[in-house]
Amino acid sequence: MSGPRILLVIGGGIAAYKSCELVRMIRKHGGEVTCVLTEGGARFVTPMALAALSEKPVHTTLWDLRNEVEMGHIQFSREADLIVVCPATANLLAKMASGIADDLATTLMLATDKPVMAVPAMNVRMWQHAATMRNIAVLRSAGVDVMEPDEGVMACGEFGPGRLPEPQAVWERIAWALNLDGEKAPVQPLPAVAQVAEPSWQHPVLDTRETDPYAAEGLGLGGLTGSMISRGLQRAKKAIGLSAEEPPMAEPAPPLLMRKGAARAAPPTDPQALNHTVSAHGDARAPQPWRPASGPLADRHVLVTAGPTWEPIDPVRYIANRSSGKQGFAIAAAAAEAGARVTLVAGPVHLPTPPGVTRVDVESAREMAEAVSRALPADVAVMVAAVADWRPVSAAGIKLKKRGYAPPALELAENPDILATVAASPNRPALLVGFAAETNDVLHYAREKRQRKGADWIVANDVSGDVMGGANNTVHIVRQDDIVSLPEMPKDDVARALVERFADAFVR
Ligand SMILES: Cc1cc2nc3c(=O)[nH]c(=O)nc-3n(C[C@H](O)[C@H](O)[C@H](O)COP(=O)(O)O)c2cc1C
Repeated sequence: MSGPRILLVIGGGIAAYKSCELVRMIRKHGGEVTCVLTEGGARFVTPMALAALSEKPVHTTLWDLRNEVEMGHIQFSREADLIVVCPATANLLAKMASGIADDLATTLMLATDKPVMAVPAMNVRMWQHAATMRNIAVLRSAGVDVMEPDEGVMACGEFGPGRLPEPQAVWERIAWALNLDGEKAPVQPLPAVAQVAEPSWQHPVLDTRETDPYAAEGLGLGGLTGSMISRGLQRAKKAIGLSAEEPPMAEPAPPLLMRKGAARAAPPTDPQALNHTVSAHGDARAPQPWRPASGPLADRHVLVTAGPTWEPIDPVRYIANRSSGKQGFAIAAAAAEAGARVTLVAGPVHLPTPPGVTRVDVESAREMAEAVSRALPADVAVMVAAVADWRPVSAAGIKLKKRGYAPPALELAENPDILATVAASPNRPALLVGFAAETNDVLHYAREKRQRKGADWIVANDVSGDVMGGANNTVHIVRQDDIVSLPEMPKDDVARALVERFADAFVR
């Protein structure tokens, strides 16, 4: 077997210099690299350096007579097993998300039939900008594997997420993407190649196919994006002669930008899709919700979180909890029935989207925190999700193997406190409601939580029985001046009772 063929697109970011190290690393592991530099990229790293390291010509322009006699931009895009955009600038991500092809890099990404991976790097504000977040969501839903940037001090002096992950981590992601673990490619010695450091694991894309009971039916929510990616990657693995671990997919996914075209053309036929239109970007989840014209919550925006979160240990394992999402989904449905515009941020659950509700699917606590912050402002926020308190400090980029002598140690880090963050936000909703699932001293913990988190109400429920996953619930609404205890009833009725009280709170 020959090594993987990587087409490396280098954008115009300050981190472009790290692409030189990445080229060396890929070659050290037996891969071939063809570099394409954007005009901006060439301001930060020279074609000469990349040509010397890759031992191949470096391509910088679409208007190259020698290459284009043979339609070079199409050829490049088809010859690789994987296209890696590193660093992916905000500009490149925006162009990729909207199908712009105005230079060699973006044209070949539009022309490719191969999987694409992007490694963003930019200033923290650029990264957190709504436009960039939207572009990332579009790309991920179209099957592009977008790595999370590292957090830390940036070249511009600011602090936060946006730093390019270390080349070692990028290589590990490439190896994972191409299923190279265990398939040790021959090491090609290069002059002055540094010793490969111990793996510094990166946040992976969750692949739940082994652990998600719904995955076999193609229903695994965690696999929504992952399955699209994996289908593209499946072809890449075949192309380089690797046996694919995954069961064969029924139909290979068309490449990113072809999918967009198809999505635009296809009318929604899934009954779930009746509440949604398919966006111009092919993001089938982009909603245009139906809702009643009137009701006690008309003109109010209600934000609901629901379900568990999954905290990745490695690409196939995660920490989760037993939350079914039913109570949160019921509240979202009841709020929409009451005329509200509803945003439902859902962890990985297998529940249909209630009519008239805009749904945002997430997996981890950090993704949920981001989605909540993007969904604000809201008039009411109801934080029903059972957010994992902790996550593994670092998630392995490739599946952890069994070791004979001892299981791996799991070091945990605290997750963001979404309720407290919303309470402290300048966008704090007028009515902020938290949930407290307790197995003992329910009211005591609920009162304490209301104060500590800065919420207006805490809906406390005793989850010592089969509430999690069950159809009924018994709740106590703990407010500043009183506690309202409702008898046991179906979760739909609990939801309606709560929504009535939300509406009352605005009338008073
Ligand atoms: C000194 C300097 C550093 C820059 N660093 C970044 C960066 O890290 N990430 C980014 O997205 N843009 C960065 N930019 C802006 C991009 O270079 C600019 O958006 C350019 O149009 C990107 O072109 P490209 O996407 O075709 O490579 C930087 C610009 C300058 C002048």
